[in-house]
Amino acid sequence: MKILPIISPKGGEGKSTFAAYLAGFIADAGLRTLLIDADWSQPTASSIFPLKQEATCGLYELLMQMLPDPLLAISHTSIDNLDVIYSNDPDELLPTAMLHAADGRLRLRNILQQPAFATHYDVIIVDSKGATGVMTELSILSSTGTVMGVVKPILPDVREFIRGSLHMFARLKTYENYGIQLPDIAILVNCFENTLLDREAMESLATIINQKQYDSSVLGNRDIYRLLDTRIEALDIYKLGHVKSQPVHRLEYKTRRKGPAAAETMHSLACELFPEWKAEFDGVLVAQPSNEPGEVKNA
Ligand SMILES: Nc1ncnc2c1ncn2[C@@H]1O[C@H](COP(=O)(O)OP(=O)(O)OP(=O)(O)O)[C@@H](O)[C@H]1O
Ligand SMILES: [Mg+2]
Repeated sequence: MKILPIISPKGGEGKSTFAAYLAGFIADAGLRTLLIDADWSQPTASSIFPLKQEATCGLYELLMQMLPDPLLAISHTSIDNLDVIYSNDPDELLPTAMLHAADGRLRLRNILQQPAFATHYDVIIVDSKGATGVMTELSILSSTGTVMGVVKPILPDVREFIRGSLHMFARLKTYENYGIQLPDIAILVNCFENTLLDREAMESLATIINQKQYDSSVLGNRDIYRLLDTRIEALDIYKLGHVKSQPVHRLEYKTRRKGPAAAETMHSLACELFPEWKAEFDGVLVAQPSNEPGEVKNA
């Protein structure tokens, strides 16, 4: 079972959108997938797809350890193989509770390591709020090796991403004393528009990473960042998935536009993040599952 948290220290970079679309793509590849909406007060990721069966509880009860069985927090979406744990803490009680709990930053990790999750799921995607702090740190520590960071190709956002993520990782370094290895950060550039400014921001990001222009001494000089080859363009199709309550690959397998169709982009992202399931991901582009339940194009 792989657990992939998705983070960005700044809001509005596209985390919830791509947490949901990626989870939908992986589920359509036949992998048993769970999307956890750990943006505690704004249930964006968990509200994109309709629920077929809604649990009476969610993230709040799960993290507050109010459930005799953690699987009671699981809701089933209308997409086969895709379950969600929705967020339900509009009064923002969770951050304070997790901050003061001795095991707060390890709560999600400890819960997800219970055998029930590995029995039921191949992949767990954890969306987070665009902020630094205990709740993002709790998501990071749940990772099985990689977190995906989402950033727009805007220089101040890039700098904020490196500064914010480094700061959180430096704070979490102490957990290595308990045998927990901190994950790598795979950076996804979102909303790329191929303007001169965007290309310059991309170059700056690549330089920061390749030439290690950040203070890695706080992390024992480890390289924690890698830049994903997949880039997401700024396109209306990526908004349409929200509107149609569908994972975006189902809406666009082919395009006349210059550049890849949304399904090809999601395929390439899934393959980069989970290369062990490439054959399953290739199958999505062949079978082309569609919006209509039961309908399969080109089957
Ligand atoms: N590649 C894209 N092209 C066009 N619109 C996009 C793209 N990616 C995201 N958006 C839009 O940008 C907005 C913000 O995206 P999203 O809610 O996923 O960001 P977020 O990182 O989860 O924000 P927050 O930190 O507030 O949770 C949404 O309206 C979404 O539809
Ligand atoms: Mg969000």
